[in-house]
Amino acid sequence: MTSRRLVLSRSAAVIGAASTGLLLPQIVRAQSAKVRVGFMLPYTGTFAQLGVAIENGVRMALAEQGNKLGGREIEWFKVDDESEPSKGIENATRLVQRDKVDVLIGTVHSGVQMGIHKVARDTGVLNIIPNAGVHAATRALCAPNVFRTSFSNAQPTLALGKAMVDKGHKKAVWITWKYAAGDDAYEGFKESYTKAGGTIVKELGLPFPNVEFQALLTEIAALKPDAVACFFAGGGAVKFIRDYAAAGLKDKIPLYGSGFLTEGVLDAAGPAADGIMTTMHYSDSLDTPRNKNFRLEYAKQFKMQPDVYAVQGYDSGLLLLQGAAAVKGDLSNKAALYKAMEGATIDSPRGKWTMSKSHNPVQDIYLRVVQNKENKVVGVAAKALADPGTGCRMG
Ligand code: PHB
Repeated sequence: MTSRRLVLSRSAAVIGAASTGLLLPQIVRAQSAKVRVGFMLPYTGTFAQLGVAIENGVRMALAEQGNKLGGREIEWFKVDDESEPSKGIENATRLVQRDKVDVLIGTVHSGVQMGIHKVARDTGVLNIIPNAGVHAATRALCAPNVFRTSFSNAQPTLALGKAMVDKGHKKAVWITWKYAAGDDAYEGFKESYTKAGGTIVKELGLPFPNVEFQALLTEIAALKPDAVACFFAGGGAVKFIRDYAAAGLKDKIPLYGSGFLTEGVLDAAGPAADGIMTTMHYSDSLDTPRNKNFRLEYAKQFKMQPDVYAVQGYDSGLLLLQGAAAVKGDLSNKAALYKAMEGATIDSPRGKWTMSKSHNPVQDIYLRVVQNKENKVVGVAAKALADPGTGCRMG
């Protein structure tokens, strides 16, 4: 009885307010219903483990705050994007039109991200990117409703070139999957390596998610560079690390990479990964209470070690919490929501970071080395590094 009366009197208030033009009915509905949060992530294929780690991280951050956003409960939705760019628009549309999500958290693969990006720009849905570093999303095609909590693909590699030259490696081969992320990562590497005085003797590539590395490794052996730098991730990274060692290159030509190479793969890669140096906005061994607590809690909850993807998911949750708190759960108050998200400082396990004007993290990049299945910090390779955000004009 009581609840029915409450509903009736509430709707009477809505009609009254709407007729005076003070309050739109959909705003009242939005505030009283659950917040609809949609994951569009890879749960199959070479990036499957990355998707799981991201979802774990998001859920962990929200659980720490009682699973509420600005006082409202949450309803979860989920789509496996398979890291398949051709299905990107269709999958994102499903979450937005069918499931009517208030926020779409996704994704990992840069090509799929471009599909989400089109849907986000067309519909205005809030999109938090928990990984994909594709430059366009926070450069020329940046948008007020799109925020990234991870990195731009060039951020790690912009810090890589100098670290390699400092170690005396003047001639390098670059190798990657040929798609947006590999191309963007190369842009950062080329700039930093050549500026530091290095020469790129050859740029090698193969289509995503191909893992037939043999012919390319033979070519590297013949070229005899001082070092190799690369972008690979997930299941493909495990295979590359193992094949590199099996080809006898591990002890002859030092292997470097954008840090994804050694994220979430160290158990599977085993000793073949020892000694690989990478640059990344996170390191397992960051000696801060924040990171230590995060790692302990994550391992307890999910029975696995966290990696950079788990951290990025966790930070996506923190960003959403901050935004929702600022508008007291009324995510339809977009101007105030975006302002709060833009001005957020995220107290991350990776260290505190802020949001750039183009909605990408401004963050420290660490130089790491793999030792005994851990990414150990060697030092800070770049302090408070921002992506240039070239061509970004918020509409
Ligand atoms: C990307 O496609 O942007 C991407 C995928 C996996 C990574 C990093 C970047 O680990």
